[in-house]
Amino acid sequence: MTLLQKVKGFRDIFGEDIKYWHWAESIIQSIFKSYGFKEFRLPVLEKTSVYKRGIGETTDIVEKEMFTFTDSDELVSLRPEGTASLMRAYIENNLHNPPGVKKYYYLGNMFRRERPQKGRFRQFSQIGVEVLESEAPLLDAEIISLLYNTALELGLSDYVNMEINSIGCPVCRPKYKEDLIKYFAGHKEDLCDDCKRRLETNPLRILDCKVEKCKSIAKDAPVILSYLCDDCNTHFESVKEYLTMMEVPFKVNPKMVRGLDYYVKTAFELVTDRLGAASAVGAGGRYDGLVKSLGGNDTAGIGFAIGLDRIVELLKEVRPMEEKGADVFILAFDKDGLSHCLKLAKELRALGFVVEYDYSLASMKSQFKKADKSSASYAVVLGSNELAENKAAVKDLVSGNQELIELNNIVSYIKNKLI
Ligand code: HAM
Repeated sequence: MTLLQKVKGFRDIFGEDIKYWHWAESIIQSIFKSYGFKEFRLPVLEKTSVYKRGIGETTDIVEKEMFTFTDSDELVSLRPEGTASLMRAYIENNLHNPPGVKKYYYLGNMFRRERPQKGRFRQFSQIGVEVLESEAPLLDAEIISLLYNTALELGLSDYVNMEINSIGCPVCRPKYKEDLIKYFAGHKEDLCDDCKRRLETNPLRILDCKVEKCKSIAKDAPVILSYLCDDCNTHFESVKEYLTMMEVPFKVNPKMVRGLDYYVKTAFELVTDRLGAASAVGAGGRYDGLVKSLGGNDTAGIGFAIGLDRIVELLKEVRPMEEKGADVFILAFDKDGLSHCLKLAKELRALGFVVEYDYSLASMKSQFKKADKSSASYAVVLGSNELAENKAAVKDLVSGNQELIELNNIVSYIKNKLI
């Protein structure tokens, strides 16, 4: 029979990696909560039109990366990101009522049919935030500083850099687009086939092409910052000023464009050089027209998403974590021992201790081997001789010291030793 294998780019996550995932997810969620964000759980499947209208028909994601299929005559897609989906939910659930700033965070798997490589998967997990109903540049700075402070809390600040840009708005971007098309049209023959097409459909995407020829042509392309209207310019200057006040180190990258079409004004990426081509560990920006383009009110919005798979890869490289085994391993050899074992395990687990025991009532030697393997700190031996005296032997598996303890006192004995 042929070996069953997972779908290309999809992920099995287990073993050592799980502790990095748990740790990162819990630290990040507690930081998000401390900034006032409330969790939002989004569906994995949306109507394809949510992404077509939200992310943009001519983006790589919508053009070629979504897992789309027909369900009862309707095109649906596995979510490639959370922002468009959350905006759909915001409109559908009338969350603009009552008015006021809304702050949501979400966590979950996203799906994009990208070419798998280090740090790039077809199933990946994002934890993201979205804030609605404020245009204030102070909010942009707070969101960027939240992303930076998250990396700081995770101990990753030495391995990442914050890059920011303003990518203009519907007032100033058309003139920029026009000049960009003129510039790239002069180099059309040397562009890759994708970029030749992008020249017609979405010229800004050429600035993000990874093909060497296109990258070198893009080096001398005009930059959006020289085209910003007064409103975008003032906004960007304020964001930079607030970031400095917040002591967030950043670099302006005038060539940064994002892979999703909904962005206006502020865009940012937290990048690392530790993960090869997959350089962004988190990214986002402002998307003031998005809710309206999905059929809602004219609503301001800004947010980012962190790529948890990349965060975990980075943590594994730079922050080795100690393996924590069981606290207590209980050894029982017969029915009488087992009934004491089950009672003890229940009491210790209720106090939060990690407790294991052997399921086969095997020999003392074999059970001690298992206790060592579990890396438990203490072994409780429920032998018949000890039980006859209402006692058990408690062995410190690190020092090897052993004491006989009254059965009634075992829980408090272990508590004193381990807390
Ligand atoms: P994005 O830049 O497409 O933005 O993705 C955000 C992050 O998700 C990336 O920086 C990266 O860490 C991770 N990521 C993306 N694709 C992959 C992949 N194939 N494999 C592993 N990790 C990946 C968005 O998705 C926007 N929705 C972010 C946002 C929220 N903007 C405003 N609000």
